[in-house]
Amino acid sequence: MTIEPRTILVTGGAGYIGAVSANALIAAGHRVVILDDLSAGHSDTIPNEASSIVGSYADGDRMQSLLRDARIDTILHIGALSIVSESVAQPERYFKTNLVGSISLLDAAIAVGIKRFVFSSSAAVYGASSSNVLHEELPLAPVNPYGSTKAAFEHVLRAYAAAHGLNALALRYFNVAGATEQVKERHSPETHLLPRLMNAALAGEPFELYGSDYTTPDRTAIRDYVHVADVAAAHLAAIGKLANAEMHGFSAINIGSGAGTSVREAIKAIEKASGARIEVQEHPRRAGDPPRLVADISRAQSHLGWRPRQSDINRIVKSLLPR
Ligand SMILES: NC(=O)c1ccc[n+]([C@@H]2O[C@H](COP(=O)([O-])OP(=O)(O)OC[C@H]3O[C@@H](n4cnc5c(N)ncnc54)[C@H](O)[C@@H]3O)[C@@H](O)[C@H]2O)c1
Repeated sequence: MTIEPRTILVTGGAGYIGAVSANALIAAGHRVVILDDLSAGHSDTIPNEASSIVGSYADGDRMQSLLRDARIDTILHIGALSIVSESVAQPERYFKTNLVGSISLLDAAIAVGIKRFVFSSSAAVYGASSSNVLHEELPLAPVNPYGSTKAAFEHVLRAYAAAHGLNALALRYFNVAGATEQVKERHSPETHLLPRLMNAALAGEPFELYGSDYTTPDRTAIRDYVHVADVAAAHLAAIGKLANAEMHGFSAINIGSGAGTSVREAIKAIEKASGARIEVQEHPRRAGDPPRLVADISRAQSHLGWRPRQSDINRIVKSLLPR
């Protein structure tokens, strides 16, 4: 798909997915303006070719002049607070930043006439679904405040699309993982399985496994891991579809590998890649952790022409090795 270069605001562009996406957009010839409040991001991952502004997308008045002055035509709204346990302890922070703040950004966009909006949603909107494969028409049933903020902002986008002619895509990422040449995952605290496993393998420390009595073939929970470079490619595809006016109104689209990997399979993959053995300490499962969350990715293929290319679990894990 060829598209004219766009001027894209990337919120959260100093974070993990944001920095990888900003690099991919720049490589494809787009102009990128990064807005990040650095609450969880790292200024050293911001690509040199991007303009960068330190601040919050929740600052509606400032956003209008920023969007106008930088001549933004597309918004890739990746910035958010995204630690589930923190959202349980401090729901007010999560609703204020992820929902109210995002509405301020969207209002500023509408006020200056921006009609193209891509939103980082999450598989957390499905909650603890018992479906074997999750497709986009399932009811939204988040089980924590983080997931609720994502589901609520999707409702906002749908309503604004109907009322204001906004064209918006909510990309529901599953478990984003892996590293690129320029960017690796650096969350603090790190709550994601694969980097935690790799850290345990490299440091020779034990790994705490929560839940080994699920109704899955090896009794551990199954998740869908998608390489961060594939997520960046999905952003490019989404921006292309909006730029070419091939998508109108609001759509939600799963972005996953479409394959399930159990915790024990992930452990084996990390042991194989690192050459280290991981000592596993088993604990009871945590409340609200469903046995299996795997994406149906047929809509991403039919609507975006996207499919995962780098999301084989062994490939993801290899990219985590120190260089
Ligand atoms: N990593 C995953 O597996 C995953 C899965 C599903 C959805 N998501 C979503 O993808 C997005 C990016 O996730 P990530 O893993 O890269 O997280 P991250 O924490 O690395 O990046 C988020 C960035 O947003 C910035 N930010 C937070 N609040 C802000 C504000 N008010 N104004 C400006 N910037 C702000 C942070 O400083 C950080 O740089 C988030 O919206 C997250 O909810 C991530």
